[in-house]
Amino acid sequence: MTERWEPPPYPYDRLAPLREKAASLPGGVVDLSIGDPTDPPPPAVVAALAASGAERSYPTSVGSPAFRAAASSWLASRLGVDVPPSLVGACVGTKEFVAGVPGWLRLREPTRDTVMFPAVSYPTYAMGALLAGCRPLAVPVDASGRVVLDAIAASDASRALCLWVNTPGNPAGGLDDLDAAAQWGRAHGVPVLSDECYVEFTWEGPARTILASGLDGVIAVHSLSKRSNLAGVRSGFYAGDPELMGFLLEVRKHAGLMTPGPVLAAATVALSDQVHVAEQRRRYWERLVRLREVLALVGVDAPLPGGGFYLWAPAPDGDDWGLVERLAVQGGLLASPGEFYGEAGRGHVRIAAVAPLERLELVASRLTA
Ligand SMILES: Cc1ncc(COP(=O)(O)O)c(C=O)c1O
Repeated sequence: MTERWEPPPYPYDRLAPLREKAASLPGGVVDLSIGDPTDPPPPAVVAALAASGAERSYPTSVGSPAFRAAASSWLASRLGVDVPPSLVGACVGTKEFVAGVPGWLRLREPTRDTVMFPAVSYPTYAMGALLAGCRPLAVPVDASGRVVLDAIAASDASRALCLWVNTPGNPAGGLDDLDAAAQWGRAHGVPVLSDECYVEFTWEGPARTILASGLDGVIAVHSLSKRSNLAGVRSGFYAGDPELMGFLLEVRKHAGLMTPGPVLAAATVALSDQVHVAEQRRRYWERLVRLREVLALVGVDAPLPGGGFYLWAPAPDGDDWGLVERLAVQGGLLASPGEFYGEAGRGHVRIAAVAPLERLELVASRLTA
């Protein structure tokens, strides 16, 4: 890279003028632009943050033995896969991992320079490539949100450091074929990184992980943020292929990436409980169903997702910013335009079911006034 790199405007900062307009309505803004949990985490988890006694010492970069064991047990009990704790590593929230991993993979494979990801997806996959001075490459997705593996040219595969898949998908809520992605990666010698942070909110069929296809050549990434309403404490983990894990665990140790000890203690408690997750699933589903009805008030027919807690709504005349503006000005609802999730996302609007029902009723009453 010879040119100086300037960070682009952070996508959500571009919503500030519309947030102001929505906030000026009586009752204020109903902010559904970000998947930011607003429901409470379990009290035992919050108590563990204060009671861990882990403040004094440096935490280990890979995560505490108890945390790694809890993650391993959760993978077995919830997703039916057998991954030893030694093949689990803690991360400081998964965004940190997503944004950083291309740079580390490039150290491992200096002749490769390309990061591939679904053409409609979480923007940090592309940003991770840019932060590492690599080439971001959007892979087309089909109507169900699956990456079209046949569309990847051999010349791109041979340059690829990794292929990201994300199921349930943000923003479109699709469920990908993780077995097919894993097989493609093995056939082409490309690690497949599977972002599974919405796995607990799978609505169609069972929760699924790429690790069910075997650990060879794949890494699954999991977050406590959405599952347990812990986005503020920053905790997640990654697990999979022994050789890749060995490399990443060591590199991250040198980089000083450590999840704080109290956070590891709290996350250990959270991973050991499914009751609060069932409650959260109920909340998100109820809100998705109501949000769909609220959008129908402005003539928008948004399908319920296969997974995740977003509606991916087709904008009238394909004008995503137009629909975002209308929802903000008339309904006080802040959503995000599809272009935030890639060029191929234009024409849709993403709405996160993160506000309680009474706030959605407020939007409904404004839209019908
Ligand atoms: C697809 C996807 N991956 C990763 C993340 C990051 O989550 P966290 O850093 O809180 O673990 C998000 C957050 O919205 C996301 O939507």
